[in-house]
Amino acid sequence: MSRRPRVWISRPTFPDLVARLEAHFEVSAEAQEKKFDPAELAGRLADQDAAIVGLKDRIGAVEIAGARRLRIVANLGVGYDNIHLPALTAAGIAASNTADVLNERVADYAWAMMLGVARRMHAAERWLRAGHWQSTEFRAWLGLDVRGRTLGILGMGRIGQAIARRAAGFGMPVLYHNRSRLPEATEHACNARLVDKAQLLRESDFLILVLPLTPQTRHAIGAAPQAALKPLGGGGKLARGGIVDDAALAEALQRGQLAAAALDVFEHEPAVHPALLAMDNVLLSPHIASATTETRRAMTALAIDNVLAVFGHGPHAGRPPTILNPTVLAAAGTTPHP
Ligand code: 8YV
Repeated sequence: MSRRPRVWISRPTFPDLVARLEAHFEVSAEAQEKKFDPAELAGRLADQDAAIVGLKDRIGAVEIAGARRLRIVANLGVGYDNIHLPALTAAGIAASNTADVLNERVADYAWAMMLGVARRMHAAERWLRAGHWQSTEFRAWLGLDVRGRTLGILGMGRIGQAIARRAAGFGMPVLYHNRSRLPEATEHACNARLVDKAQLLRESDFLILVLPLTPQTRHAIGAAPQAALKPLGGGGKLARGGIVDDAALAEALQRGQLAAAALDVFEHEPAVHPALLAMDNVLLSPHIASATTETRRAMTALAIDNVLAVFGHGPHAGRPPTILNPTVLAAAGTTPHP
């Protein structure tokens, strides 16, 4: 008797959404968040036909070596630097991400970070809670104006564009740098102008980093680019930790090269560089830019849709919507979504 295909979910998600898998799969979902080591991942994947994983799960050749039945690894994130795509492709395993469903929420969060750090909300809140508010002083807690200042965006994918569109409300001109130029109509909708990286660093009052982490973008903002930043500017990053050299960032803040920084991702997260922890002009959050109920549910639903589709089920049967290595599907006779 043939067994039902099996899917492993590496972390707690939303049981009502997972129920959609249960009609077709034997589902095993971890009840606790945990960081699995390579041997544990290899063990978990060995007997699975599909897996839904997250950013803490690093899946490469070692982890899939014994996973003979595995057909898809669906990542609960738009970034997929945790997945070694060439290794999966070579093994004929599809991989998917959660492109697009989080763009608007992450853009909202970028603005929340930028406004929060510019107006010192995080530090003022800590100070108030600590019981220091004895009188209201006219010249206390002065922050940075954002209105009319220049917003720079490094990495102008769909999240970068969503961030840029919001700038009109704050009267901020937008400069961007990206691997390729956006179509004219998109530039117009974003009111954004392409510049080279040096000009972006030189002219931005606020710089937001939304690059994917790849070997080419690691430390894209290292010590030298930070030295080129406009003094009194603010920086924010919400893509992947490794894009910024956190030690160099701490030094740039310490010598006043940068007025402030807002960070949602870290080079060695969940560890945070101790110098950053000690600074009041740094707003820190634990990688939560996409964390709204609706968005995390949408990410889960999309991962599930990709898994279902590879096995010929669900609304996208045979045409998984966000596949990263479509050649694998073509070889298996399944087509990616157009
Ligand atoms: C995480 C993210 O997926 O989508 C991404 O690339 O970094 C986030 O949305 C989320 O924090 C879950 O770990």
